[in-house]
Amino acid sequence: MKKDLLGLKDLSAESINAILDEAAQMKKIVLQKEKKTKDLAGRAVVNLFYENSTRTRLSFELAAKYMSANAANITASGSSVQKGETLIDTANTINAMGTDILVMRHSMSGAPHLIAPIVNASVINAGDGMDEHPTQALLDMLTIIEKKGAIKGLKVAIVGDINHSRVVRSNIYGLKKLGAQVSVGGPSTLIPPDMDKLGVSVFNSVQETIIDADVVMGLRIQLERQKSGLFPSLREYYRFFGVDDKRLKFAKPDALVMHPGPVNRGVEFSSSVIDGDQSVINEQVTSGVAVRMAVMKILAQGGFEE
Ligand code: CP
Repeated sequence: MKKDLLGLKDLSAESINAILDEAAQMKKIVLQKEKKTKDLAGRAVVNLFYENSTRTRLSFELAAKYMSANAANITASGSSVQKGETLIDTANTINAMGTDILVMRHSMSGAPHLIAPIVNASVINAGDGMDEHPTQALLDMLTIIEKKGAIKGLKVAIVGDINHSRVVRSNIYGLKKLGAQVSVGGPSTLIPPDMDKLGVSVFNSVQETIIDADVVMGLRIQLERQKSGLFPSLREYYRFFGVDDKRLKFAKPDALVMHPGPVNRGVEFSSSVIDGDQSVINEQVTSGVAVRMAVMKILAQGGFEE
């Protein structure tokens, strides 16, 4: 059994479906007034975040508390990392306190893969550099299934900063395993050259990317990870790649508008698209708590099939 959730690249379609089925049940609990299960009673969940987060960190914390776990948070800025402690020493220290589940976000791709084999705790990747963000893709898939019934046969268009996005990689692995057709688009400077090897269609125009799409997903322009000169300005990016009401009409009339957040308003999407009838961005946030509850429950019960 796999004791960790490090990415969707190596997770089977069966395991993904098992998480999504469990998450659909958990979502009912998230939406009810009394949000309490005993699934993690007596267990300890620690969120170790070396990068900023609102959605992921808070939803893991709430998910753990809804399931009666002892939940704690630690950030790099308030920890002994500032005194020079290494990632491995920090992880071993947290592990030695009886931690059952270690949720990790790190700017270095592969950081959770480094830690998982050396700790007893189950490690959940909450985003590692430009590699994967598996629970984000799972919550996206749960939201799509709830709105569209299934993922098989859907056309999912992803527009934005493809190169720096861990969200796009996890979504491509997961969506394709469940039978979706995926297209990605953005300026050529924000698309890695070997993207088509992942089995997706690649475009450099927003119209071609989103034409007839069932889902239009925007990705944040990650200025913090970019070297300068990848595009002239945010205004210029929006002019050519931003999705406004006019451009959204290239997709199917009932296409879902999705974004992992945080959104740069007026950059990836116009405010009218973000707040419009087709947007399910807030629904994604609710799905996030449910998915994280499901993942932690399955890991606490022994993990995923190899
Ligand atoms: N989508 C996402 O990972 O958001 P946060 O950075 O706020 O966690």
